[in-house]
Formats: sequence, structure tokens, C-alpha cells
Amino acid sequence: MNETHFYARRQKLLDRMEEGVAIVTSAPTQSRSNDTEYLYRQNSDFYYLCGFNEDNSILILVKNPELTKTILFVEAYNAEHALWNGARLGVERARERFRVDDVHDISEYATMIKDVLREHINLYIDLYSDSTRLTEVKNAAQSLHSTRGVKRHIRSIHDVTHLIRSMRLIKSDEEIETIKKAIAITAEAHHTALRKCRTGMLEYQLQAAMSYVFLNSGASAEAYGAIVAGGNNANTLHYVDNRDELRDGDLVLIDAACEWELYASDITRTFPINGKFSDAQREVYEKVLDVQLRVIEAIRVGVKRDWLQMYSEELLCDALIELGILSGERSTLIEAKEHKKYAPHGIGHWMGLDVHDPCPYVDEAGESLAFEAGMVMTIEPGLYFRADDESVPERYRGIGIRIEDNILVTEEGYENLSAMIAKSVEEIEGICHNQL
Ligand code: GLY
Ligand code: MN
Ligand code: MN
Repeated sequence: MNETHFYARRQKLLDRMEEGVAIVTSAPTQSRSNDTEYLYRQNSDFYYLCGFNEDNSILILVKNPELTKTILFVEAYNAEHALWNGARLGVERARERFRVDDVHDISEYATMIKDVLREHINLYIDLYSDSTRLTEVKNAAQSLHSTRGVKRHIRSIHDVTHLIRSMRLIKSDEEIETIKKAIAITAEAHHTALRKCRTGMLEYQLQAAMSYVFLNSGASAEAYGAIVAGGNNANTLHYVDNRDELRDGDLVLIDAACEWELYASDITRTFPINGKFSDAQREVYEKVLDVQLRVIEAIRVGVKRDWLQMYSEELLCDALIELGILSGERSTLIEAKEHKKYAPHGIGHWMGLDVHDPCPYVDEAGESLAFEAGMVMTIEPGLYFRADDESVPERYRGIGIRIEDNILVTEEGYENLSAMIAKSVEEIEGICHNQL
């Protein structure tokens, strides 16, 4: 992605705005413990509009009949900061790099914001998470309200993230290439895990083998906390301890993936620690895989996301009936949400700059969105049978399986962007047996 792409996005946002002012801010740094910080992660909406990776920066878009203007506030170059944390881009270089109309030192923001808001009616801001900024602009608007000579005042506050995230829903070719890069590294990491897995290893050792691939390939970060869950740990959906031993005869569920230039991938594979599925594991695995393949196959332009969710629940419910875990009429079971006990999470989510891309799932009328070419989502059915769950035949207890791929909707139907990662029983056993 280069400045041409970011410029085009800012223009598109301006097109979608009514006359007014939009304010989008960078993410703050986060303290981890005294004097240490979490690895910085930019606010995805801010990054989407300017590709700038520094904290303490603000982007403002102004739209009125006389002029449309973009202003970026950045932290000035500061020798002290350069010594301890690295050089800031600074005002001058930001001016050269970004096709915005103005770049200012962030220290001027507090005074300039009043001038920027003057005579505007609509204010666009991150309404739901940026409470400090909201107070700041509200104070500026209030002060303008009682300033003599100002004729028009802020009357409507809109959520700017809704506009940006509607744009983020459809990925450009460049975004898809970036996601593919993240997936390619993640594919190598999953194949490394399949090859390196040995009975008696610790979950975090398998995680370390994958982290090595991510870092060694230059991935900017893991897209989320890796789940490496041996045996019954797979039945804790957000298991991130990753400290148990991997035991002979158990499966391991790995949900781990990296980011490339802040774009996520999100992949889960489940495989036998000793390289060979038991009959019971294989039976469940093939059911989950069959559901996943059928749901993916149903993806095409025009299909509604809610329909896909319902279809996946029907298929998972059928699988549970066929495995002898549920009995009765599918529709009655679904009505009573019986299947949710073993398949509690949704079929998937949008994916992009955030692993759970916060793009809308419904249109302005509240109706489920229909798929369009350029949307990217995960498809990740799972079945989870806790070791202590006596409602499940004994042979299936302790088995937790999820299979997750990243799917692009295309004009022709779909493209499975992670199709290169081993998934069938034969492919998985083939790789496990080929251990290094
Ligand atoms: N890794 C998070 C998820 O699958 O949604
Ligand atoms: Mn996911
Ligand atoms: Mn996942």
C-alpha cells in the first residue's frame, strides 16, 4: 500500500461525509508494566486512512462548500525521544510523505481544533471508543457556541468509524495481496508445527516453533494470542495458557496466525499429536471438515451472511445427530439451541486490518448483508466435546476440533486464500509422518 491508496481512501471518506469535520486519532501506547510498553499497534481505522504508524497523531478531514481539506497532526521530531525510542517522522518529513493539505505539530492541536470546528454543523468522531477526544472536541464546540460572531455550531455528532468500516468491508486488490502475504507466512508456520510436533513436547514449544517462522519472515506481529491446545484444552475456546504437555493419542488444536503490514490472517488446524488420527478423532474431524467444505462451497455474491450462519448450524446439528450426540428433529433441536452446547461460536467473521474486522454485518435497514466481491471472512466450524461431558459417547470425550480458513468472495464465487494449508486427513497424516 502506498500514499496513492491512502489518499484515495481519504477522498472516498470525504465523498461519503456530509459537510463537516471528521477526526480520526492514532492508538495510544499501552503500559505493560513499569517503564515498559506493549508492542505498539496502530488504530486500524487511522492506519486505513493514512498508513502512519506513530502514536500521538490525529487526522482531520474538513468538508465544506468552499474547501475540502485534510490535516495531519504529528509529534515533532524530538532528540530525546529519538535517543530512547527511535526517531519520529516529524512535521517536515510528514509533509513530504503524505498527500495531505497541512501537517502540524500535535502540540498545536488543542488550539487549532477550535478554528477547525468553527462554522461547522456536523462532527464525525469515533463515538464509541474515543471518550477523551470526544470530551476535548465537545469542550471546543461548547466554547465556540458561546463565542460571539460564530453563526453555525456543531449540531450533529456522527460515528466516523461506521463510514470507515463500511469502506473497509470491500478489500482492494492491494489489500488482498497483503492478506495473502500474511497467510503465506502463517501457512509455513502451521506446516512447521505439523512437522515438529512430538508426543511429550509442551504446547508453548510448538507455539515457539510457529513464532520463529512469523518473526523470521518479517511479520509485523501475531494477529492475536496463539491458541495451542492439546487434548481437552481445545474445549476452552480462548485457551491461551499453552503450557501443558502434548500427550500421545490426543489431538492438538492450533489457532495461530500473523499480521503483514497490519493485515491479519486467522487459521486453525487440528491434528493428531502422534501423527495418526484415532477412529473416534477421525470421525469427528471428517464431520467438521465436511461442514467447513460445504459452507465454503455455498459462498457466492448475493448470499446473505445470516443465511450462511443458519446453514452452518443446520450442518453442524446434522453432524451431531450422525455422531449420536443429539437425537430428534433437526429443526426442533436448533429451535432449542441444543447444538450450541457443542458448537457454541459463529461460523466466522470479517477479516482485514483487524482479525475480527469490525465492519458492518447488517445494512442500514438492519438486514443481514449480502456478500459482495472483495469481502474477506473466516469460515471456522468447530465441535467441542469436554472430557467430563457425560452427554457425549465416551469415545468422543475430550475431543475439540476447529478448522478455519480465510475466504475471499469473488465475482465467480469464492477463493480460499488459505487452501495451501494441509487439511484433509490424508494431507495432515502425510505431513505428520514426514517429521523432520
Ligand atoms: N483466532 C480468533 C478467531 O478465530 O476468531
Ligand atoms: Mn477466526
Ligand atoms: Mn482463529
